[in-house]
Amino acid sequence: MTNNHKATCRATSNIAFVKYWGRTNHQLRLPMNGSISMNLAAAYTTTTVEFDPNLDRDQIDVTSTALDEKQAARVFQHVDRIREIAKTDTRVRVASQNNFPMGAGIASSASAFAALTVASAHAAGLSLDEKQLTILARQGSGSACRSVPSGFVEWHYGKTSEDSFAETIASPDHWDIRDLIAITQTEHKAVGSTKGIELVTTSPFNDTRVDLAHQSMDIIRQAILDRHWTQFGEETEREAIRLHMIAMTSDPPVFYWSPVTMRIIKSVIEWRNEGLETYFTIDAGANVHVMARGEDADQIQEKLANLEGVEQVIHSTVGHGTQLVEAHLFR
Ligand code: DP6
Repeated sequence: MTNNHKATCRATSNIAFVKYWGRTNHQLRLPMNGSISMNLAAAYTTTTVEFDPNLDRDQIDVTSTALDEKQAARVFQHVDRIREIAKTDTRVRVASQNNFPMGAGIASSASAFAALTVASAHAAGLSLDEKQLTILARQGSGSACRSVPSGFVEWHYGKTSEDSFAETIASPDHWDIRDLIAITQTEHKAVGSTKGIELVTTSPFNDTRVDLAHQSMDIIRQAILDRHWTQFGEETEREAIRLHMIAMTSDPPVFYWSPVTMRIIKSVIEWRNEGLETYFTIDAGANVHVMARGEDADQIQEKLANLEGVEQVIHSTVGHGTQLVEAHLFR
């Protein structure tokens, strides 16, 4: 590679309804079960990658946060995967920016690694199809593979790397549902998902959860295709609770919920009993993703914002997949 090659991509975060929480292969990030998510239009990362023959080492600049050495190494290790395919050892300059506050508890690894993968592949001059890009993104961060395709996305668990990819099951305009993300804390979580996922086999209930997750895949995929809100919401809640049951019964146990998390869960159930049909899901943190139908979303957002301990509510529609953009983060 003799000339400079540069590309910028924008990728959204995503929220999973059937979750990735357990791996059969840690290095390749092959999950124990398939998962289904929607992209979050309101939370995205923009990343510029440039291959520069004048550099003697990789460089990264992440606006608004300082990455520690381990995090930076994980980024460059991921670029190595692209360098290997492109057969180059040219160093890169990377700059990345989130439109949501880092450390607000919104998963940033999904959007970050999706944007990094697609930008690096383009900058390296590779023409990979979407499936190949999801396979690559998955190895950087599992959930990132679901941020590459558009809309509602399924990640097939697969027994080999080539079989473990993500694809769209429905476009963003298929169904107007919203994710109201109730931000409850701004500190970084105590146990990151990478570590939490490594612990699943220490829970005596893990095999049961994986069996049930396979069933949830069929139920939730069908509910999305049929736009069946009750079926979708009830199964999404069950699946989320099971993830946390595994975390709480791992050795050592991991407790992601805070008292505010519990307050939101109880409020959602109460609102539902009063006739406002809304459901929750929770990732590896204390924030609660409250799912709403488009027509109910503003009302629910207001109710959430009034709960004690809720700092902010991010209102997201269904987002598109990772896209190339013109505006680079550096010259
Ligand atoms: C709870 O994708 O962050 O959000 O592969 O180690 O980077 P790594 O894990 P990550 O885990 C996400 C876990 C989750 C559930 C989900 O998004 O499916």
